[in-house]
Amino acid sequence: MTALTLSTAAAPGLRADAIVVGVAKGAKAPVVAPGAEAVDKAYDGKLAGVLETLGASGAEGEVTKLPAPSGFKAPLVVAVGLGAVPEKDAAFEAEALRRAAGAAARALAGSKKAAFALPIADAGDVAAVAEGALLGSYSFDTYKENGKDAKAKKGKAPLAEVALLGTKPRDRAHKAAAERATAVTEELNRARDLINMPPNDLNPEAFAAVAQAAGKEHGLKVQVLDEKALEKGGYGGILGVGAGSASAPRLVKLSYTSSKAKKHLAFVGKGITYDSGGISLKPAGHNETMKCDMSGAAAVFAAVVAAARLGLEVDVTGWLALAENMPSGSATRPGDVLRMYSGKTVEVLNTDAEGRLVLADALARASEEKPDAIVDVATLTGAMMLALGNRTFGIMANDDAFRSAVHEAAEEVGEGAWPMPLPDHLRKGMDSPTADIANMGERYGGGLVAGLFLKEFVGEGITWAHLDIAGPAYNESGPFGYTPKGGTGSAVRTLVRLAELAASGDLG
Ligand code: BES
Ligand code: MN
Ligand code: ZN
Repeated sequence: MTALTLSTAAAPGLRADAIVVGVAKGAKAPVVAPGAEAVDKAYDGKLAGVLETLGASGAEGEVTKLPAPSGFKAPLVVAVGLGAVPEKDAAFEAEALRRAAGAAARALAGSKKAAFALPIADAGDVAAVAEGALLGSYSFDTYKENGKDAKAKKGKAPLAEVALLGTKPRDRAHKAAAERATAVTEELNRARDLINMPPNDLNPEAFAAVAQAAGKEHGLKVQVLDEKALEKGGYGGILGVGAGSASAPRLVKLSYTSSKAKKHLAFVGKGITYDSGGISLKPAGHNETMKCDMSGAAAVFAAVVAAARLGLEVDVTGWLALAENMPSGSATRPGDVLRMYSGKTVEVLNTDAEGRLVLADALARASEEKPDAIVDVATLTGAMMLALGNRTFGIMANDDAFRSAVHEAAEEVGEGAWPMPLPDHLRKGMDSPTADIANMGERYGGGLVAGLFLKEFVGEGITWAHLDIAGPAYNESGPFGYTPKGGTGSAVRTLVRLAELAASGDLG
């Protein structure tokens, strides 16, 4: 884990492997961002010109490395692009700082210590640079160790130490921002680890064990329902999805409670540790990344632990609906009818529409405790990826104000999200001649159809939102900003923000 320190040190005398400065895109030429004054001075005030000579423009994500000026203890200066210079008198946006810090941290993988001299005007900027640097300092190389030369095969180790210059180590707001950033990013990076873990190692039982261990460490109550308990409880959805797998399903309940809580939030996560599609098997080309299908559960898990670490004055219950969707002689068939936890019957027309089945049981169970609101998170539909691409998740809800509140929270933390409707007319496509409802409906609007299915399993009168993170959960292309290749930790920061808003009484 990368260590974070706040520092008032001046850049020249600082012992570090690199000093990170910001460069913005001006109208004609790159502009050195505030925070780098001492560095610029050491280049005789000509840093912008030097950078331009090296081809830098200040574009977002651009990284330019140059030798540090003579007299500096650190050997290297890394100039990272912040994008356009802000309008007159405006500061850089938090997300621009977060992305730039992330890009710099990635470029410095393999180094020990970097000092960030980016523009920091207030505690919000401390948080943004810290988050970006800590999220950019992530790598997953647990499995790169075969062969004779294990060390050479391992990827570069992430940056070990991040110092934020221009900050006030004794300032309450700065300290709180750094502590929050540390807790949230450590848990978010842990969610990434879980997503990246291969499905032969992370089955439902193993995931539940991870939750139990974290519960012990952070004082959470953890209850695990195994296959016998699920049978006894009538969890037909979770059992039906897990029926084909050699690894039995689990429902994990994680409870964080605060003696000062006035509100109770429930987070529900889709935790398909591998989605083969089941008997409705996915073709090659569509199953290689399906270990990511537990990203919703990973996000919920991380958010509940983060809420506990931050000591938020709110009760948060996390529900992880864990199953592996596999074809076999014992698997659920297309045409089977499942009796769900809520008592409703579902005709399974496509075993690849499994996420809504495990979530339906978890939503019905979560509703029994009458939380003030439920938010579920799921890599639910390919249709949502077609609609919104792979950097934006869809938000559906049974309450317009709550959907807006979730959207605002996502924007605030820098997560791409967009509201989507739940049109009533799409419900009839799920009418089943045999059961109360089918698990599939019209092809068009598939993400909304899935949302409408879930809505039926939310308890009467409970405010609910559904985040379909199928797009942003797993990054199959190259890394960018603070987002690595592979598991991204999508929705973790939005959930934590929602818990904070509920704690301060600012969520509905
Ligand atoms: N886990 C998938 C959705 C998914 C696809 C997530 C691609 C991430 C990347 C989900 O279980 C699924 O298979 N959904 C089907 C539903 C359909 C059969 C109604 C889909 O979207 O095709
Ligand atoms: Mn599926
Ligand atoms: Zn799935």
